[in-house]
Amino acid sequence: MKIAVIQGPNLNMLGIREQHIYGPMTLDQIHDQMKGSASQNGVELEFFQSNLEGEIVDRVQECLGTVDGILINPAAYSHTSIAIKDALSAVNLPTVEVHISNIYKREEFRQKSITAASSTGVISGFGPFGYHMGLIALTQIVSEVKAVEAEQQAEPAE
Ligand code: DQA
Repeated sequence: MKIAVIQGPNLNMLGIREQHIYGPMTLDQIHDQMKGSASQNGVELEFFQSNLEGEIVDRVQECLGTVDGILINPAAYSHTSIAIKDALSAVNLPTVEVHISNIYKREEFRQKSITAASSTGVISGFGPFGYHMGLIALTQIVSEVKAVEAEQQAEPAE
């Protein structure tokens, strides 16, 4: 099973930016932890971070036919990007949106995620552990999808 991990703008600044909100871990440290648990479960991860909306749209589009699911933190673009939302809908893969902070108890402009409407589910407010939770959820969802597909293929055509 292959999963794309897509990180939006300013997440490359984790460990430096607003530690009282996002904590002290860097993005590399978060990814290293994810690699550890993924490899134990036979999951292959492909990491990508960009500060540019169009690059994230391109990366989401590339996921079609190449990965089984998407774990995404669109960061500030969650609140603004119809383009990323549409890309996620277009590829229509199992998708979990992660936010390190609890966006529902922050400024009003952060309390709505446009991109979340194209995700299977959202995890928000559990710190970097949210990525781990998202990975577990996504692994489960992808396994269920694969099981249904295998069952459908095994059924004789009418
Ligand atoms: C964030 C929340 C966003 O509002 C913010 O713009 C981010 C990070 C989070 O992970 O909590 O950059 O997505």
